[in-house]
Amino acid sequence: MNVLGIMGFGENPAACLLQDGKMVAFGEEERFTRLKGSDGMCPTKAIAFCLAHAKLPLSGVDRIAFGWNSNKYPWRMLQNFGGTYLKYRGRESRAFHEQKESTSIVTALETVLEFHPARIRSHIATGLRAAGLTGKIPPIDFVDHHMAHAYSTYFCSRFDRAGILTLDGSGENITTMLSVADGDQIRPVETFEIPNSLGWFYAATTEYLGFLPYRDEGKVMGLAALGEERRDRNKWIEPLSKVLRIDAKTYEVDPIYTKFGGHFYGHLYTDELVKMITSVDPMATPVAYGEKVMINGKLTSKYMLDTYVDFAWAAQELLERAAVMLARRLVQEHGQENLCIAGGVGLNCKMNGEILRQSGCKNIFVQPASSDSGTALGAAMIIAQRHGDNVRNPLSHVYYGPGFSNDEIRTALQGCKIPFKEVDDPGFEGAAMLEQGKIIAWFQGRMEFGARALGGRSILANLTMPCAKQKVNAEVKYREAWRPFCPSMTIEAQDRYIANPNEAGFMTVAYPSTESAVKELPAIVHVDGTMRPQTIRPDVNPLFHRLISEMGRRTGHPVVMNTSFNVRSEPIICTPLEAVRCFYSNGLDGMIIGNFALSKS
Ligand SMILES: [Fe+2]
Repeated sequence: MNVLGIMGFGENPAACLLQDGKMVAFGEEERFTRLKGSDGMCPTKAIAFCLAHAKLPLSGVDRIAFGWNSNKYPWRMLQNFGGTYLKYRGRESRAFHEQKESTSIVTALETVLEFHPARIRSHIATGLRAAGLTGKIPPIDFVDHHMAHAYSTYFCSRFDRAGILTLDGSGENITTMLSVADGDQIRPVETFEIPNSLGWFYAATTEYLGFLPYRDEGKVMGLAALGEERRDRNKWIEPLSKVLRIDAKTYEVDPIYTKFGGHFYGHLYTDELVKMITSVDPMATPVAYGEKVMINGKLTSKYMLDTYVDFAWAAQELLERAAVMLARRLVQEHGQENLCIAGGVGLNCKMNGEILRQSGCKNIFVQPASSDSGTALGAAMIIAQRHGDNVRNPLSHVYYGPGFSNDEIRTALQGCKIPFKEVDDPGFEGAAMLEQGKIIAWFQGRMEFGARALGGRSILANLTMPCAKQKVNAEVKYREAWRPFCPSMTIEAQDRYIANPNEAGFMTVAYPSTESAVKELPAIVHVDGTMRPQTIRPDVNPLFHRLISEMGRRTGHPVVMNTSFNVRSEPIICTPLEAVRCFYSNGLDGMIIGNFALSKS
């Protein structure tokens, strides 16, 4: 049967098509709208892509699955808010309110109406029409959000038994879920509810540090590593432990710092948090977006001050402690040696690495689309399985987006009247350019889904050239200088660079680097000694494997620096025309696109 999975109207809208349980197309709306995140939108263009790819009319879709249970949402949320309000009402009345309209009751009612089932059904119908789809609207099924996350990771893993940890901001009233999977069944064993959200805790610290919450959490994770050397003198663990309290079996997030009270300074933290933080360090006021100060005579982003770096380290440390505690419970109490992870917090690859090393599990799998886009896939899996399909999709790659033939690429290049040459061996040609120290774009096959570019739409650089990282930052990506770059390497070479590798196909887990990597390829080793690698198998992506192997032959290192093909703050590019536009808008030296090579003189 044909099941169209959808997630929309929140963060990272996406659509996914399953045919007889097998994934055939998966697209995130931002790649088509070109608006980063496309938050709040219906995944109209992603739906249109999925059906066009399968040459399927709307009448061919048997069911639509939506990754949020709007049926249970209003009532569960009202119960949850009522219960939480009664539990904390004493503190609510004492909390300092700068803005009257930000009281929890108002927030509760607004949030409840937002995902009302009638409203969502109407939005989906409008979205399908906007996608140019005519005919009867297929039946729409709502599924539990965390179950959709859980399906998206377990049924994409290679395990037939596993513990599943789903962690996000919130899905309906749930924020964290521990489940156990056996064969084709997933059984939730414990849930945590609003306001006890690890996603909200990390988003609050993200916003406090002047980054965009629900978008820039990866920057906080990268920044946190800079505080590693001062970990023994860190002053923020104790105060932040009042916000996120962790014990041996559970954790709690105090809403007086995230929800209840005035929000004069931030949306995701209260004025109470500001009072508490500034009582420890009067200088540690909330950072405004883009705020700069003089550090050592140089105008620098304010979050680079030691106190904020240490704040980020403490937030990351507490998140890791909570996640490791939960993962350890799945291992010890439920006897699971394989762990699957999903949910927006699952994008934190440093946390995933600590889970692998500290929880006692033997194997780990993290869904590459751990944000809400992944629930489009998970929702479709739930409904397809309910109707008898086998939904196991062990993930060997993420190339389920649009692809373009050489003829289509040639037409696009000719239309732009730009010089190019046809090449027989793109891998050889790409490696030759990289060896010369050129930074190249690599556009091959179908576009990736998920947060990382993994060899479909990538920018690559030669790690053996001097100052590789600085060059890519200064000439192409314009990223913050302290953020790490990721390596892609042949699977055969992983032991040479990664200490104790496990699942490393998707850049979802941070690993300690080997001594040889630290000494020979420092550009891919973060300040805390970890790396976030992608290993390439020759049978999964022969072309990318060929390029990297050829780099090994030429430089002695079968590794390339791999970052997403886009410029800062834009989604990863999708089409040949976008590739041309991006190629000419920055300091890229060359591009291998299909069987064509472009070079700037
Ligand atoms: Fe989620």
